[in-house]
Amino acid sequence: MVRFALWSLWSLLLSVTVATGAEVEGCEADVASALQVMGRVKNPDDDSPPEEDPADDDDEDPPEEPEDDDDEDPEEDPDVPIVLEPEECEQVCCYSRFSSPESLCGCLADHSISCNFCSSPYFATPSEYHVPDSGSFNVSILVNETGLTTISQLEVGLGLAGFHLQTLGITLLGPNAESLRLKGAEPDQPDETQEVHWVFSNRPGCNDCKEPVDSLSQLQGKEAKGTWTLMFETDPEVLNGLVSWVELSLTSC
Ligand SMILES: *[C@@H]1O[C@H](CO)[C@@H](O)[C@H](O)[C@H]1NC(C)=O
Ligand SMILES: *[C@@H]1O[C@H](CO)[C@@H](O)[C@H](O)[C@H]1NC(C)=O
Repeated sequence: MVRFALWSLWSLLLSVTVATGAEVEGCEADVASALQVMGRVKNPDDDSPPEEDPADDDDEDPPEEPEDDDDEDPEEDPDVPIVLEPEECEQVCCYSRFSSPESLCGCLADHSISCNFCSSPYFATPSEYHVPDSGSFNVSILVNETGLTTISQLEVGLGLAGFHLQTLGITLLGPNAESLRLKGAEPDQPDETQEVHWVFSNRPGCNDCKEPVDSLSQLQGKEAKGTWTLMFETDPEVLNGLVSWVELSLTSC
């Protein structure tokens, strides 16, 4: 029974392919057009009788045309899972600034990859934060990455726009209540509100980095996992600006 059905399907495909002639390009196009003609796949915009060449229908790309070359059945789920090669997988799922979907990062387990945050840092970002119109506020970052142990190097990245930089104070609180002053009020600096992108770091040779008031190397050997907090102290009399970027860059050996 199944065999007969397959045979009749195949012969139909063949006959339609022959009927549509040489203008149809490629085997996949043939199968897709043929299935469409047979009514297995409906194209709501296509009222043309089956005798006409469906390949002429160029401007209306039928959504059921298979995009993956080997898929013979256009009725199958078009969401083909993305398969990452081991190197891509490690890059995307370990060291990206953007958290990757868990569905994608099953590749870590599949290839038995463990992230090496000694060679490349782990980037931690807040899942959400709220900046009040005025007054001091905190931004918390939960670090819950099992591949991290103790800190070898820490950097803090911040993007700010519209804050009064002269009066702005920033303090970092570690998971075990370590308190490090990153920036104090700077009365001798001009009161500017321009956009800044700061990387607080004590990495030797980093010219673009901003030196924190307290050295971040104090955190070497301390636990990386836990809740980190950035405390922003602002002049309550003036409006706050925009926090456009917050990240911790954690290296752990
Ligand atoms: C920020 O967090 C610290 C430590 O948890 C807390 O003492 C302080 O009150 C918080 N500040 C604000 C403005 O929420
Ligand atoms: C932290 O990670 C562990 C293990 O990966 C998980 O079970 C736990 O729910 C996570 N905690 C939070 C607050 O996300």
